[in-house]
Amino acid sequence: MGRNVLVVGGGGREHALGWRLATSPSVDRLVSAPGNPGLAALGPTHPLDPTDVTAVADLAERDAIDLVVVGPEGPLVAGVVDELARRGIPTFGPTAAGAHIEGSKAFAKSVMDLAGIPTAGYVATTERDAAHEALERFMPPYVVKADGLAAGKGVRICLDLEEAREAVDDALVHRVFGDAGTQVVIEEYLEGPERSVFGVCDGEDVVLLAPAMDYKRARDGDEGRNTGGMGAYSPVPGCTLDDVGHLTEDVFRPVLRELASRGTPYRGLLYAGLIDTVQGPKLLEFNARFGDPETQVVLPRLASDLGELLAASASGSVADVEVAWRDDAAVTVVLASGGYPGPYDTGLPVRGVEEAGRSGAVEVFHAGTARDDDGRLVTAGGRVLAVTALGPTVSEARALAYAAADRISFDGLQRRGDIAAGVAEG
Ligand code: AMP
Ligand code: GLY
Repeated sequence: MGRNVLVVGGGGREHALGWRLATSPSVDRLVSAPGNPGLAALGPTHPLDPTDVTAVADLAERDAIDLVVVGPEGPLVAGVVDELARRGIPTFGPTAAGAHIEGSKAFAKSVMDLAGIPTAGYVATTERDAAHEALERFMPPYVVKADGLAAGKGVRICLDLEEAREAVDDALVHRVFGDAGTQVVIEEYLEGPERSVFGVCDGEDVVLLAPAMDYKRARDGDEGRNTGGMGAYSPVPGCTLDDVGHLTEDVFRPVLRELASRGTPYRGLLYAGLIDTVQGPKLLEFNARFGDPETQVVLPRLASDLGELLAASASGSVADVEVAWRDDAAVTVVLASGGYPGPYDTGLPVRGVEEAGRSGAVEVFHAGTARDDDGRLVTAGGRVLAVTALGPTVSEARALAYAAADRISFDGLQRRGDIAAGVAEG
């Protein structure tokens, strides 16, 4: 007897979660809300606002759901998990108190301090003058962050003091981030490649997943603006599961102990964003959810049952679950709307998805797509699709992913050409 699973969300990460869950022996039936055309191929989808806590919980009850898997941060911060817990429905994801680790950068920094985790030096303040004074104690480039969730736009890396002061004023005086920017965090700049390490947590213990490398900038060569992520690959040479094993004791368990001691034990995914500095890895940030598009390369490499692992995180012990990995490498290339991460058109017909996905080594994950009135696939978001391929090596997976991506077209399609390029093979 397998589980009925509800995936909350409708992006590329949720399609990848749903796809992996649908193939898990422990899962009988997959439902998603709101879902997307990719998830619709795996089971029923229900149009609702995923941050509408009552609507999500009502659906889970009505549909006899045994496990809810929450993808994005919005519903977590809104307290979807708290409401589902109140109704006795096992849910993968932290409560609103736990999601605060992503929802407030100042809170995250204080937890890192208390848990003794290496991270960038910082000052958090709500006062403009204090912020301007604090900037004097840092060196360029200056990092100025809005404390709260600002849809990926809350971080400014400033080359000179004047720009940094403007960034402070934008948040604290002009309130361009609204309530998300009533506090700023000024931070030491960390230099080095970024890595994403995911830990599946059960409140006390953690199981690390294979690390991935994400490409945050819009253009080749890490030029252009910061985006949600334009591509990813895994494994990362020099940053394999073995290489990051020490993070269990150095980062994850101290944080879990700290949060448990505050009466808010953390269940769900804890995402550690690290920078590999010359002094060793330093923690940049925590997220309370799977990364997007890293999930689209991590989960295709998972050989064991994802449903069992997420269920153990929700209401059991993750150490009891056997986790196994394929030897294959995975690469994903994001196909974005022209103009992203700025304004872009939607409703443009998307061609070639079926042809691209015909090879067994390729999976096309839907991120920002919809069906128009005639049932045709059209663009509906900034990141439209993530084309993932598996191969014996990163470079073979890369070649397959780009060959598949070449078959897909829509007006204005924008993608990077250098995802996983030049990765040293072990
Ligand atoms: P975040 O919204 O915290 O994920 O930050 C967005 C991006 O800004 C990160 O992925 C980094 O590329 C960059 N960033 C944030 N903080 C720092 C820092 N202290 N040093 C260098 N880069 C940073
Ligand atoms: N790809 C970065 C993130 O999910 O935050």
